[in-house]
Amino acid sequence: MIQFTVNEEACVRCGECVRDCPMGVIAMRDEIPSVAPDKESMCIRCQHCLAVCPTAALSILGKNPEDSLPLKGNMPTADQMETLLRGRRSVRHYKQENVDKAVLDRLLTVARTAPTGKNSLNLHFLLVDDKDVMQAIRTDVYDGIRERMAGEGLPEGMEFFGTAAKLWGRGVDLVFRGAPHMLWVTAPKNSPSPEADPHIALSYFELMAAALGLGTVWCGFGKWVFTKVLPHMKAKLGVPENHTDGYVMMFGTPDIRYYRTVQRDEQATSIVSYP
Ligand SMILES: Cc1cc2nc3c(=O)[nH]c(=O)nc-3n(C[C@H](O)[C@H](O)[C@H](O)COP(=O)(O)O)c2cc1C
Repeated sequence: MIQFTVNEEACVRCGECVRDCPMGVIAMRDEIPSVAPDKESMCIRCQHCLAVCPTAALSILGKNPEDSLPLKGNMPTADQMETLLRGRRSVRHYKQENVDKAVLDRLLTVARTAPTGKNSLNLHFLLVDDKDVMQAIRTDVYDGIRERMAGEGLPEGMEFFGTAAKLWGRGVDLVFRGAPHMLWVTAPKNSPSPEADPHIALSYFELMAAALGLGTVWCGFGKWVFTKVLPHMKAKLGVPENHTDGYVMMFGTPDIRYYRTVQRDEQATSIVSYP
């Protein structure tokens, strides 16, 4: 049940909830928005109706609109957003300390609000919230790489993990960049957009982390080591069986500071002239 309710005194009958519902399940009945019982199952639970109501008169899924963050006057400016987006860097030097639990919760809350195809909201967030746990994973991974090299050998295209193993012998962590935390986001293979969804959630996570003064680095090496070199790690760490490989991100408190943005060259861009 979607628990769609309208406070008739507060409702100004503007019809915005009807206009914005992407599934067209809301209709005006006696001048008040309502959802017919046979349409409830079509609702994708996006909560646009709750967000678009100018007088906070509408509740759905048991949510009180007063518990939402108000938007008016609270948005970052375009200049602030641009500085955040262009000033975020891949961080490869971390303090060996845990990020506060409350901060981790806040980051995950934001990452979970990222859009998902058809609002499926069924991602799996696999979090390493403790540096000692990360250290145990790290040690297991490098031991595993060495064992695989000594046994059946590294998979084709993954030979560079031999260099990573050598560097680890010298105390350099090329795979995980010495980060104290890791987030691995995956999606069910049969969800509407299993490839895009984890990446979008991690982008949200990364930008919120940057806003909080934390550092992140997308970890292709981590993804490959967990899925191609040591594929048993996917289940061992707790990724659900029917999930995609998703993507891995390392993060923590940076042990480095950047003072300015980089200056990227243009990338191929074309303007469509059609027909
Ligand atoms: C999908 C993806 C995978 C990446 N994998 C790694 C990685 O395994 N190790 C690493 O140090 N950096 C990794 N990076 C970081 C890129 O090298 C980095 O984004 C790029 O050099 C630009 O630097 P910037 O992020 O500071 O702008 C990855 C980035 C992306 C987008």
